[in-house]
Amino acid sequence: MYALDGYGFFATELRATAEFIGLIGIQRMSFLLPGRSVYAVEIGWRLNEKSWGKGLATEGARACLDLAFEQFHLPEVVAFTIPVNLPSRRVMEKLRMTRNPDDDFDHPRLPTGHPLQRHVLYRIQQSDWQRGL
Ligand SMILES: CC(C)(COP(=O)(O)OP(=O)(O)OC[C@H]1O[C@@H](n2cnc3c(N)ncnc32)[C@H](O)[C@@H]1OP(=O)(O)O)[C@@H](O)C(=O)NCCC(=O)NCCS
Repeated sequence: MYALDGYGFFATELRATAEFIGLIGIQRMSFLLPGRSVYAVEIGWRLNEKSWGKGLATEGARACLDLAFEQFHLPEVVAFTIPVNLPSRRVMEKLRMTRNPDDDFDHPRLPTGHPLQRHVLYRIQQSDWQRGL
């Protein structure tokens, strides 16, 4: 992905100690969102449990949105998760990403009827990110 697009998910370390705590990054999606003909770029995060609740995912994700919009000039970044993942949704909201329920979708990699199939989609446009800087 780094070779193809110049970006991907990054190993994430604490600034103070360089301890590895998880991953945060942007990547081109491997499937098309419903109604789209171009693969969207998603932002995502996963940290080890002891690092939760300190604002670290949001801090790292902000840096990744800067990268997406200022360095790679992407028009839009999306994020998605299952509806009950409230911490992840809260990170999306703190990044000023917004959700239109009409964009929610069934994840195509999960079998029909799977309890985790439904996903909520959030997005942010380059112009909205830059307006808030
Ligand atoms: C999602 C995840 C990356 C968030 O990391 P984090 O560093 O704790 O995130 P932040 O501290 O930046 O923000 C978390 C927010 O969620 C809120 N939150 C935590 N638990 C919550 C809950 N049960 N209900 C509602 N909000 C909750 C926190 O209060 C915080 O919001 P605030 O700053 O307004 O108080 C982390 O929980 C994680 O790695 N989870 C497991 C992997 C995962 O689910 N990845 C996402 C897949 S889509």
